[in-house]
Amino acid sequence: MPEIVTVTQQGRVGIVALNNPPVNALSHALRSELCARLADALAAPELEALVLCCEGRTFVAGADIREFGKEPQPPDVPEVVEFVERATKPVIAAIHGTALGGGLELALACHVRLAAATAKLGFPEVSLGILPGAGGTQRLPRLIGARAALELIIGGAPVNAARARELGLIDAIIEGDLKAGAVAFAERLIDQGRPPTRVSARTVTLEEPTLFEEFVAGITERCRGQLAPFHCVRAVRAAVELPFAEGLKVERELFAELMRSPQAKALRHAFFAEREVAKVPGLPLDTPARPVKSAAVVGVGSIGSAVAICFADAHIPVSLIDTSRDDLERGLAVVRRHYANALETGQLDAPEMEARLGCLRPALDDDELETADLVVEAVFEDLELKRDVFGRLDAICKPGAILATTTTSLDIDAIAGGTRRPEDVLGIHFPSPTPAVRLVEIARARRTAPDVCASALAVARSFRKVAVSVVARPGFIGSRMRSRQLREALCLLEEGALPAQVDRAFYEFGFPLGPFAAAARDGLDVIGSDANPNGERLSEREQAELALEASKARGVVRRTIGDEAILERCLFALINEGARILEEGVAARPLDIDMVWIHGYGFPAHRGGPMFYADEVGLSRIHTAILDFQERVEPTSWVPSPLLERLAKSGSGFYGAP
Ligand code: 3HC
Repeated sequence: MPEIVTVTQQGRVGIVALNNPPVNALSHALRSELCARLADALAAPELEALVLCCEGRTFVAGADIREFGKEPQPPDVPEVVEFVERATKPVIAAIHGTALGGGLELALACHVRLAAATAKLGFPEVSLGILPGAGGTQRLPRLIGARAALELIIGGAPVNAARARELGLIDAIIEGDLKAGAVAFAERLIDQGRPPTRVSARTVTLEEPTLFEEFVAGITERCRGQLAPFHCVRAVRAAVELPFAEGLKVERELFAELMRSPQAKALRHAFFAEREVAKVPGLPLDTPARPVKSAAVVGVGSIGSAVAICFADAHIPVSLIDTSRDDLERGLAVVRRHYANALETGQLDAPEMEARLGCLRPALDDDELETADLVVEAVFEDLELKRDVFGRLDAICKPGAILATTTTSLDIDAIAGGTRRPEDVLGIHFPSPTPAVRLVEIARARRTAPDVCASALAVARSFRKVAVSVVARPGFIGSRMRSRQLREALCLLEEGALPAQVDRAFYEFGFPLGPFAAAARDGLDVIGSDANPNGERLSEREQAELALEASKARGVVRRTIGDEAILERCLFALINEGARILEEGVAARPLDIDMVWIHGYGFPAHRGGPMFYADEVGLSRIHTAILDFQERVEPTSWVPSPLLERLAKSGSGFYGAP
C-alpha cells in the first residue's frame, strides 16, 4: 500500500505529499503520520522550506466526517493545524482540486498559500451543522477581513482560485506544474531569508461597527431554526474582539456544542445519504450504461422545457419536439428567458450561454427522434395520449434508444405496453421545473433493463441532480407522500386550522413553503376545488373563508389547533406513508425517501428527511399518535403501516436501533 505521507527532497526544499484517497480527508492515520513526517522534515538540516501538497484528485477536502460523533483520537485536526503554523521553517501549501473545511484550515496555518488556477477553496462546515473548528473562524478574518470571512463561512460555497486571490486568501495562482511552481516559490523564500509569517499573528479590525448585527439580521429568516450559521457569526466576532488564543477557545466551545447537536447528526446523515443513494441495491455499480450523446424531449410544456435545460446545461444536444408551433415557441421562450436570467445574474457568461442555447434543436416533426439516444416524453398526463406517443417512438426511434416518461401518476407498465420494447422504457420524474430543485426520481417498470436504469441514473447525475431509483408505482415516492400529507392538511382546515397557519407552521419547521403555498406554486388547485373550479390563486382572506364554509357544509364545529398539532398530523401522515412505500419495496431504503424529500420537496436538511426525523422523534411515539388519530380523527386513513408498527414495538427505528 502506498505511504499515506511521503517527504521527498528537491534541493533545499522538502515536498511533503499526502496520499489518502479518495479526497485526502484528515483521518486519524493521516493526522498522526503528517505530524511525524513533518517533525522529521523540520529537524532535517538540509531542508530549509517545505511544500505541503496532495496526491490524487484533490488537496485535503476536510476533516474525516466518518470520525464525527466518535471519540476523537489525538492528534486532532486543531493540533495538526497548530503544529504546522508553529513550524520554524516556511511551509507552503500547494493547493489543487478542493481545499475544504479542515483542509483550508491546514492551508491557513501554512505560511504561504499557492493554488492551481482550477482549485476551489471553501468552508462547507455549515452544511454539516458545524463551524470550522481548527482555527478557521479565527484565521480567516485575520487574512481577508471579517465581512468576507462571514460570507465565506456562512455561505458555505467554495470560491475559485481567482476570487481567492482577490480576497487575499491565497498568495498566488500557479499556472502549469503546481509542485514545480511551489518549489520555485520556496527557493525564492529561502534566498530572501524570510522567516515564516503566521496568520494568527495578524490583527483584524472591524470594517463596519454594526457588521455582526446587520449580518445576523440578514440571515435570520433564511437560516431560521438552524444553529450553525449563528454560532459561526459568534466565532468570527470573537476573532475581532479577542486575542487569537482566546478566540480559539470560543471557537472550540461553539464547535463542540454544534458537534453534539441533533442538527449536525441530521446533516451528516444527509451528506452520506446523498452519496449512498447513488449505490442502488440490486444494480451493480459497474452495470454498463448506454451512451447518451443526444436527446429529444417530446412536449415542451413547463416540465419539457425544464428537461431541455438540463440537457443543454450538460452540453447534450437536445431536440424539442411539439406538434403545435405556438406551444413550441412558448417552450423555447421559457428556455431563453431562463438563460437570459442566468446571464444577467452572472451565473453564466455569454459564450457559455450561447453554447447551451446552441444545444437546442426545435422541431415540429418526428424526424429528429430517429437519432436520439434518449427520448423524454413530457406530454399531458393522459394514459391514452402517452401510449400513443410511445407507439410513435417505438416506430421511429433507433434500436437501443432509451424511452422515458415523465409521468408519476400513471402506470408505466401500461405506457411501456404501447411499445414492442418495454425493456427500454422507464420513468423519469422531475418534481418541479425549477432548476434549483435537485431531485430526479428514476422509476424502474416491471421490464426495464438494468442498463437502461443505470443510463438514466448517470444522465441525471450529469445534470448535477440527486437521482433516486424507485420501483414504478403510481406516485413513486414524492408525489404519493405529498398527496397523503396534503389530504391531512385539508382535513385540518375543516377542523379549525387556516391555510396560512398551516403554511406558517411548516415554514417555521424549516420548509421553504407550506403545503398550500407549494401546491399553489405548482399549479395544483387544492383549496375548495368546488368553489374555485379554475384553480385561481386566492388571497389569504378568501382561503380562510373557504375553510370556514367547508367546515359549515360538513357540520364540523371548528376548534383551535396549535402549530405543533398541525405538524404532528401532517408529518406523521407523511412518515406512515413513507413506511408503506418501504414495505412495498417502492423505495429500497429509508435514505431514498429522505433524499427525495430533502432534494425535491423542501424537507429541511437539518432535520435529516422524514424517515430520519421519525427515528429522532421515536417510532413508538409516532405509532401511539397514529392510533390516537385513528380513533379521534378518521379510522380508514390512519392505519399504522405494519412496518412502522413492527419497528415501534421492537423499539427500533427505520435506520436500526436508536
Ligand atoms: N470525510 C470522509 N469522507 C469523505 C469526505 C470527508 N470530508 N469527503 C468526501 N468523502 C467521501 C465520500 O463519502 C465518498 O465516499 P464513497 O465513495 O464511499 O461514497 C468519497 O469520499 C468521494 O466523495 P464524493 O462522491 O463527494 O466525490 P466528489 O468528487 O463528487 O466531491 C468533494 C469531492 C467536493 C471533496 C466532496 O466529497 C465534498 O464536498 N466533501 C466534503 C467536504 C467537507 O464537508 N469538508 C469539511 C469537513 S468538516 C471539517 O473539516 C471540520 C473542520 O473544521 C475541523
